[in-house]
Amino acid sequence: MDRLDVIQTLMRQKNLKNYLEIGVENGHIFFRIKSTFKVAVDPKFIFDATRRLGKAIINPYNFNNQYFEKTSDAFFAQDAQRVFTAKKLQLALVDGMHEYQFALRDVENTLKYMQDDGVIIMHDCNPKTAGAAGRFEDWEVGEWNGDVWRTIIHLRSQRPDLTVFVLDFDQGLGIVTRKKPESILEFTPDQIQALTYDELVQNREKWLNLKPAAYFYEFFGLIK
Ligand SMILES: C[S@@+](CC[C@H](N)C(=O)[O-])C[C@H]1O[C@@H](n2cnc3c(N)ncnc32)[C@H](O)[C@@H]1O
Repeated sequence: MDRLDVIQTLMRQKNLKNYLEIGVENGHIFFRIKSTFKVAVDPKFIFDATRRLGKAIINPYNFNNQYFEKTSDAFFAQDAQRVFTAKKLQLALVDGMHEYQFALRDVENTLKYMQDDGVIIMHDCNPKTAGAAGRFEDWEVGEWNGDVWRTIIHLRSQRPDLTVFVLDFDQGLGIVTRKKPESILEFTPDQIQALTYDELVQNREKWLNLKPAAYFYEFFGLIK
C-alpha cells in the first residue's frame, strides 16, 4: 500500500475530490489522480509542456490542472486565496520541503482552505535511519525523509483540534483531519526542535501515533 492507494481510496469511497499536491517533482502521483480540480505546486517541476500534454491524453482530468512553479510559501502568499475561492480543498498531499517548519507551514496554510471533512496526507513521516531523519543541510547520502516527524509531534502537541496519526508504510504517511484526538502529546516547539533521532527510535509508536494499514480503513470507515 502507498500514498496513491490512500489518495485514490479516499477519493472513491469518501468522494473527496479537490486536490492539492505540494512537492510534485515529475508528477509520478499527481498525473494519476482523477479529479477535475487539481493544483500542483513545486519550485521546479521535472516535466515540460510535452509531458503535460502526454499525461492529459492518458488521463484527461489532467487537461484542467493548475500549475504553480514556485515555493509553497509563495503560492499561499500570492495565489491560494484566489485559487480556492470557489472550491475548497478536500484532499492534499504535503510532500514539498521535508523540514519541520516548512511542513508545518504547509499543513497550517492548507487547513485554511480545506473543507471541515478534508484530509491532509504528509509523506516521509517515519524515517528509519538517523541519516534520513535530519535537516537537508546535514544530509549526506542515501534516503532522505527530513524531520517531518517533528511536524507530526508538533501537531499532536499543539493542535488539540486535529487528529494526527502516521500509517506505517510508504516511509510513513501522516494523516491529518479536523477531529478531536484520542490522545495528545505535550511538547513545546523548543522541546520538539531539541529531540534527537535516538529519542524518536525509543518512542516511535507513541510519538508518531503509528498505525498499521488496517487502521486507515477503520478510521475512515472504508471497505478494503
Ligand atoms: C519528494 S519530491 C515530491 C514527490 C511527489 N509528491 C511524489 O509523490 O511523487 C519533493 C519535491 O518538493 C519540492 N520542493 C522543495 N522545496 C519546496 C517548497 N519550498 N515548496 C514546494 N515544493 C518544494 C522539490 O522541488 C521536489 O520536487
